[in-house]
Amino acid sequence: MVKKIRVGVLASGRGSNLQAIIDAVDSGMLKGVEIVVVLSDKADAYALERAKKHGIQAVFVDPGKMRRRGDYDIELLKNLRQYKVDLVLLAGYMRIVGPVLVEAFENKMMNIHPSLLPSFPGLHVQKKAIDYGARFSGCTVHFVNGGVDTGPIIIQAVVPVMPGDDEDKLAARILKQEHKIYPEAVRLFAEGRLKVIGREVEIKKHESDGGSFMINPSLKA
Ligand code: GRF
Repeated sequence: MVKKIRVGVLASGRGSNLQAIIDAVDSGMLKGVEIVVVLSDKADAYALERAKKHGIQAVFVDPGKMRRRGDYDIELLKNLRQYKVDLVLLAGYMRIVGPVLVEAFENKMMNIHPSLLPSFPGLHVQKKAIDYGARFSGCTVHFVNGGVDTGPIIIQAVVPVMPGDDEDKLAARILKQEHKIYPEAVRLFAEGRLKVIGREVEIKKHESDGGSFMINPSLKA
């Protein structure tokens, strides 16, 4: 049997993206993936409950106990090593990841962000897209580097901004696409099809793609 990729997820909140990955594993879409641990900086993160429901180890790592900046990432790294994690997924993880983790998981740590990067990095980005008057926004899965939402882009999905949208409406429309592209990016990683060359992520073609890989799953319909 082929060895499965061991995935660790960092989440601070409701964990709907975590759920999308769990569902993709359960459905057989992510055959080569095992989610081995979910770590959270929030004791009451619903993501931890979702993990427990699916028999996944759920660990609250208390940031209150850390003395120095950087100690928290060292603690996370200990956990990730303990669970022999191959790939880290940030899924609504609200802390900035420091150099200790970034270097330990170079090109092996992904994040999902609810805008079409490089537009609108940071927080409250759906509101920023509306306020700016953007016609389109979307979501991005990228590898994590030393900056905030600046790493090499793996997959993006485009989502229209509709007249009358508020932050919540646009966020909900984008979230639907997040739940498609995150599992897709994990699948490509697990199949060994992602190669980072500078800022670009090359996606190796597969026979089942019929020779043309659909970069944007939202255009498949
Ligand atoms: C998502 O919109 C994600 O893109 C952003 O934070 C939100 C997390 O949602 N990084 P959830 O916890 O996965 O439901």
